[in-house]
Amino acid sequence: MEPTPIKSVLDNEALTGTTLTVAGWVRTFRNDRFIALNDGSTIRNLQCVIDQEQVGSEIRARFTTSAAVRCTGLIVESKGSGQRVEMQVTNVEVLGDSDAEKYPIQPKKHSLEFLRENAHLRFRTNTYSAVFRIRHQVSFGIHEYFDQQGYNYFHSPIITASDAEGAGEMFRVSTLDAKNPPLNEAGEVDFKEDFFGAESRLTVSGQLQAELGALALGKVYTFGPTFRAENSNTARHLAEFWMIEPEAAFMDLHGDMDLAEGLCKHLIARVLRNSMDDLQFLDARLKEEEATKPKEQRAELGLIDRLKFVLDNPFERITYTDAIDILLRSKPHQKKQFQFPVEWGIDLQSEHERYLVEKHFKKPVIVTGYPGKIKAFYMRTNAPGDFGYSDKGTTVAAMDVLFPGIGEIIGGSQREERLDVLEARMKEMHVPAEELWWYLDTRRFGTVPHAGFGLGLERFVLFVTGMGNIRDVIPFPRTPKSAEF
Ligand code: 4AD
Ligand code: MG
Repeated sequence: MEPTPIKSVLDNEALTGTTLTVAGWVRTFRNDRFIALNDGSTIRNLQCVIDQEQVGSEIRARFTTSAAVRCTGLIVESKGSGQRVEMQVTNVEVLGDSDAEKYPIQPKKHSLEFLRENAHLRFRTNTYSAVFRIRHQVSFGIHEYFDQQGYNYFHSPIITASDAEGAGEMFRVSTLDAKNPPLNEAGEVDFKEDFFGAESRLTVSGQLQAELGALALGKVYTFGPTFRAENSNTARHLAEFWMIEPEAAFMDLHGDMDLAEGLCKHLIARVLRNSMDDLQFLDARLKEEEATKPKEQRAELGLIDRLKFVLDNPFERITYTDAIDILLRSKPHQKKQFQFPVEWGIDLQSEHERYLVEKHFKKPVIVTGYPGKIKAFYMRTNAPGDFGYSDKGTTVAAMDVLFPGIGEIIGGSQREERLDVLEARMKEMHVPAEELWWYLDTRRFGTVPHAGFGLGLERFVLFVTGMGNIRDVIPFPRTPKSAEF
């Protein structure tokens, strides 16, 4: 018989009084009688009560942590506190033993570092199972939101020859013999001999292809793995992460900001609706962690209150130029507490972003109108009258969404739709126009104003789960010097 999910057993009152089968992994076995069984359908366990006269001591000795068992029995109202119902087990079978001496994860609190080293088993802990159920809710919510808004899911390629972000941080894809590659007449590696007949790499963004889609289908979004060979070993960076990139024709920067804010709120509302028990667990976990910090470093709001706050309040929208003014007037700048200097023209560092969000506005902030020099070639150049225009220097119609505790979670822009302006900007930024002839064709044939953005899935999941390290919100993190499991 197919086992009934424990979530249904606990939530569906109609199942009380029926006999059914559940299967899962033992969390604890208490008083030689009570199995706390978890099957991953919910963070809550089902208490399975064993009749010692029916189940011999040699079987009971096998109910060790993480042993897989299948129980059949009657669901009854629980006499104990802590759970509404429990199972009176009439039949139990050990499906897979788990040697208690060797199983690395014990029913006690382990450090996240230890669990990362045991990443193959960490999904069996409350923390990680909660995180990955929420990650599912967020992923599904993304499709739901864009579908409701009339966007088409558009699959951009993982293998590409173009560096969309122009940052030169790409992984090469090749079938050439690394030790003995074919050479051309100049003595360089001859990529004409390579599988794709040209140097090919893993994508850093599906945007350029999404733009092609948007200029035909109107509205598209991509949602796929993205790769960056940036050597930043931080709690916010992965070498392989998932990005969502909507792109819409006839949308300007204001529409782009509305779409981004709407997406964040849709996802938060969905998680609050569907994942409350996981959130309550993570909220308590975060409170414990916060209690170990000095008072002035503690967050003002708990996890659930923070999510509700972001859901209920409009995001602040400011220009880069105003953001710099705020930072120049700020205490940490005047007391020289920022590590990086502040002046018009700099790229905002994470410490600056966090000051704006956490100290100054105390809510998510969308910054627009960044200097053109620090942003990608495809962003639209501002003219007087455009939101974000500045007389201090050339700005572009960029927008970054900054979140508390994290900094940038979304980067986007209105795109440069004017062929001559785009070509000039590409030249200035040394972006090879001849390789991007197909991209430029969209500006030659029926170009229109359009805009889009990229949301980093893991950064968003960090925010909704209250986790502190991006390695803990992707099942198998890939970071510099680490690709195990
Ligand atoms: O700001 P980025 O680089 O923007 C783009 O790639 C544009 N092509 C998006 C667009 O307009 N279609 O990246 C977008 C988001 C960031 O805001 C961040 O959340 C995430 O992707 N991100 C990373 N997440 C984890 N690890 C990394 N190394 C990341 N790099 C970017
Ligand atoms: Mg960015």
